[in-house]
Amino acid sequence: MSSITRSPVVAYVLFVLLDCYWEAVSGQLSYSISEEVNTGTSVGNVAKDLNLSVDDLESRMFQVVTGSKRKIFEVNLKTGVLFVNDRIDREELCAKATKCTVSVEAVINAPLKLYRLEINILDVNDNYPSFSANSQSIEIAESTLPGTKFLVLSAYDADVGKNGISTYKLNQNDYFSLSLNKGESLSAELVLQKPLDREKQPVIKLILTAVDGGTPPKSGTSQIIIHVLDVNDNVPIFTKLLYKTSINENVPLGTPVITVTATDTDEGPNGEISYSLSSKDQDHVLEIFQIDEITGLITVKGKIDFEEHLAFEIRVQASDKGSPPMAAQCKVLIEVVDLNDNTPEIFVTSLINSVKEDAKIGTAVALVSVLDRDGGKNGAVHCNIKNDSPFKLETNYKNYYSLVVDGQLDRESASLYNVTIIATDDGIPALTSTSGLTVYISDVNDNSPSFSDTLVHIYLKENSPVGAILKRLSAVDADIDQNSQVRYSIVESNSNSLPLSTMVNINSETGDIVSLQSFNYEELKTFQFKVQATDSGVPPLSSNVTVNVLILDENDNNPTILAPYSEHGSVNSESIPYSAEAGYFVAKIRAVDVKSEFW
Ligand SMILES: *[C@@H]1O[C@H](CO)[C@@H](O)[C@H](O)[C@H]1NC(C)=O
Ligand SMILES: *[C@@H]1O[C@H](CO)[C@@H](O)[C@H](O)[C@H]1NC(C)=O
Repeated sequence: MSSITRSPVVAYVLFVLLDCYWEAVSGQLSYSISEEVNTGTSVGNVAKDLNLSVDDLESRMFQVVTGSKRKIFEVNLKTGVLFVNDRIDREELCAKATKCTVSVEAVINAPLKLYRLEINILDVNDNYPSFSANSQSIEIAESTLPGTKFLVLSAYDADVGKNGISTYKLNQNDYFSLSLNKGESLSAELVLQKPLDREKQPVIKLILTAVDGGTPPKSGTSQIIIHVLDVNDNVPIFTKLLYKTSINENVPLGTPVITVTATDTDEGPNGEISYSLSSKDQDHVLEIFQIDEITGLITVKGKIDFEEHLAFEIRVQASDKGSPPMAAQCKVLIEVVDLNDNTPEIFVTSLINSVKEDAKIGTAVALVSVLDRDGGKNGAVHCNIKNDSPFKLETNYKNYYSLVVDGQLDRESASLYNVTIIATDDGIPALTSTSGLTVYISDVNDNSPSFSDTLVHIYLKENSPVGAILKRLSAVDADIDQNSQVRYSIVESNSNSLPLSTMVNINSETGDIVSLQSFNYEELKTFQFKVQATDSGVPPLSSNVTVNVLILDENDNNPTILAPYSEHGSVNSESIPYSAEAGYFVAKIRAVDVKSEFW
């Protein structure tokens, strides 16, 4: 400030004398003084330059008139020196005008003279370049291509000329350089040097410095804040590509399974993720699971049945809301944990309608298979027979059994068995099911017909009518059907006198023994024969009974009695001979009490 431009060089002095009082301009002196010099600083010796005598100044009332309230300049009447009386601010006086001149009138009386002084105010670099804002922000999409330019705020410097702004500088940074345009005033543009990435650096702060050309130079700064605008250039990323979990079967609807998480480094809708289950080729999954679009929580929405699905592989999609949206997928493996929720099922296939009672041990009666839809121990099944029966289960291979004969069968004592098969699995708690099977025992001809006695006596009055039923024989056969259908026949006789075939006959169906003749005690007192009962089994079985016929005597020697017999045939005449021994018969009748006879 102390450097005063002491160049009161009178560049040009012109005296113009005019008659007019105030208008009179006697001449023009020109001085230069730097702004902001100390008060008292000399501008120039006006008296000397105007050729005025210093001694006269006071008496002639020399004065300077600045035409404003502030008296910037004053004159020392003793020396004639024009000096700075008040602060001079070029910028206040002239603003941006390149040339700043202050006009001062100098007046002296006796005679009145008017001088015009022109004082050039010289600029001093006393102003810093300044920006209208301390910081300016620019929004740039991250997809912007390098080379793109962005105009930034220009700085202002109240100084002029070379004290004005001469250049702009940008701090060292990775992304931008500066391009200067010399137009009416110097302006600067940012030039993008390399691609931006919002995800790496969403905000870039730069310092723009405006420098003036003063000596020394002054500078001013402004912060440039670059907001990198998001472009949907990032795919959502799952925290895992494969999530694994397990879930019990039969869990209630709404049971949470697992939460998947994806992140998207983009911002706003570009980074807003919505989860969904992929709809392609997983219809069964969509029936059973659902995902919360916002939280990524997968929950159960259908029935989880281990027996239908041992595991699920779910494809989940995370999609952002950019346009166009970007999506990613992950897999969720869900293992289904088996619960013992299936009772064993028993399937019985009968092999035969019935088992013959003489079936050998080991004869297969039925095939039994069991099925338990659970896995592991829950599905491991054991099969047994409940009750005591002459059968057992033999394992053929896992879960297949044969029901075989394991003891002596006898239809006559048990014609059917209700066999109960029990299947139990190894789950905890174990589940059991039973199945009943009726095994019918079929008959074998293993029983002979049997008579209640081995010897049967028949007491027969002599002269009984021909065709009389002497006795009904009956044999019982424990078998059934054909095997119990008994036929009777006479097999043997001990009678030597007469052929049996002429004496008695037996009805093969009913067992009725019928006389074929009338017996005469006097001729035949007794005879025996064997009756055989035979069933119709194959081969047939039979048994014998001995029949002992005793003819009882009657007083029958009355010819009148014989008379009706003769009408029936020759038998009587043949079989009842008349003899002299009649006396014997009489005695006999006497001996017999009619009342005591079995007739
Ligand atoms: C077998 O079961 C049937 C039907 O339940 C029943 O009528 C029959 O008495 C049972 N027989 C045996 C020998 O248990
Ligand atoms: C029955 O009698 C016949 C004839 O004498 C004989 O051949 C057969 O063996 C007898 N049957 C039985 C079971 O005794």
